[in-house]
Amino acid sequence: MVYDLIILGGGPAGYLAGERAAHEGMKVLLIEERFIGGVCLNEGCIPSKAYLYAAKLKDGAAHGEKYGVIAKETRLDHAVVNSRKDKVVKVLTGGVRSTLKGLGVEIIEAHGEIAGKSAEGYEVLAAGEKYQGKNLLISTGSTAAMPPIPGLKEQFEAGFILTNREILDLKEIPGELAVIGGGVIGLEMASYFHSAGSKVTVIEMLRQVGGPIDPDIAALLKKNYEKKGVTFKMGCKVTRIEAGRVIYEENGAEQSAPADKVLLSIGRVARTRDLGLEKIGVLTEHAGVVTDEKMKTNIPGVYAAGDVNGKSMLAHTAYREAEVAVNIIAGKKDKMSYAAIPGVIYTNPEVAGVGETEQTAKDKGMDVTVKTISMRYAGRYIAENEGGDGIIKIIVDNKWDRLIGVHMIANYASELIWGADALVGTSMTIEQIKKIVFPHPTVSEIIREAVFQL
Ligand code: NAI
Repeated sequence: MVYDLIILGGGPAGYLAGERAAHEGMKVLLIEERFIGGVCLNEGCIPSKAYLYAAKLKDGAAHGEKYGVIAKETRLDHAVVNSRKDKVVKVLTGGVRSTLKGLGVEIIEAHGEIAGKSAEGYEVLAAGEKYQGKNLLISTGSTAAMPPIPGLKEQFEAGFILTNREILDLKEIPGELAVIGGGVIGLEMASYFHSAGSKVTVIEMLRQVGGPIDPDIAALLKKNYEKKGVTFKMGCKVTRIEAGRVIYEENGAEQSAPADKVLLSIGRVARTRDLGLEKIGVLTEHAGVVTDEKMKTNIPGVYAAGDVNGKSMLAHTAYREAEVAVNIIAGKKDKMSYAAIPGVIYTNPEVAGVGETEQTAKDKGMDVTVKTISMRYAGRYIAENEGGDGIIKIIVDNKWDRLIGVHMIANYASELIWGADALVGTSMTIEQIKKIVFPHPTVSEIIREAVFQL
């Protein structure tokens, strides 16, 4: 049997590619060595959202007096949170599996490796068998970066250091949790474990949290978490790990943070090893498998989508890249655009942004107008956020009078960013946006308000 498409890796890129390819009438084989659903469904996006929702409910009740809600005792029962998290994961991964099976996608749960090329197509080995595919999609994702910090490997093996995988399996809430890296994973996990009762210290090498997000929003996010009681060590580089403590450098002096557990969240690396890529000459560079805007690699018929190409390590990017790859295989016209990919941090308050930031627009030499307003212009925000200090920042390209960036810190930001994404992605003009009727009262009205305040 020669498959039209063999997919290596069943995360968001792989499973969606399987679905879309089956819809196109292709005969598809999907090979997954761990769990269908990948990091996102099993040990990333989805389980962390189950954690964060529980934390939000608990924190809402604990600080409910100002809303007239009196709760005698508020605490997170981590065992219950964990079992609900497992249930959520099971429902979703089960759904993906049955959708794929329903569409006739064959699934092999084993390690897959490219063996070479024959007249029929590419040969892939899995579970002792050889399979042939006319096309290949590499969607093997990424793993947590493990830099050569002295003591890190030993302490990871000893269970003191955790990555996104192990932290979602902790049975007990650590008394003290040190988080190395104040990026997306670090902040989301700091948020949950703080709410669950850990004393949390975030050690971040840069001067701002949240990576490349808008600096004003990053500062507000940090301020909100400092107010809750999370400690931040900014501009601090971790130099060594010992049992029970993380040693870091602060202004040239050695300091240490005691901890019961340590989360390592300093980025991810593309998973390109042990795939046999070299057998057919697929080009890789430091970031991952090299792809073009059609998700093609340098080898005809071989595509790569998702974290493995290192372009934008987000599940929603992976979905779209997978669709582009399948469309190209199916002979349709399509190409990937990275111009309007939303980024979200599911903290409380949430952070979401899309398009250019003030800085990236200026770096590109664009003539822009930047307008920042308080979220308090939205009635629903005031009704639901006593003392809230959220903001929205919009970036307008003066040359074309178009919205090119929207950045927010406020609850619901994660759910309303897709709308901003549509405005930015379709290059709507400010005059066109002004004519959109937004539902009232919603936090989304803040976009309309910001546009009218330009
Ligand atoms: P990240 O790239 O978001 O953040 C890593 C942070 O670690 C950076 O701020 C960096 O300056 C810092 N850092 C690096 N080396 C350090 C050192 N030696 N000492 C102290 N700090 C150091 O990476 P993260 O949080 O691990 O997330 C990985 C990937 O997962 C990202 O690509 C992210 O997009 C994705 N993800 C997305 C989520 C979302 O969309 N909400 C949630 C979780 C993860």
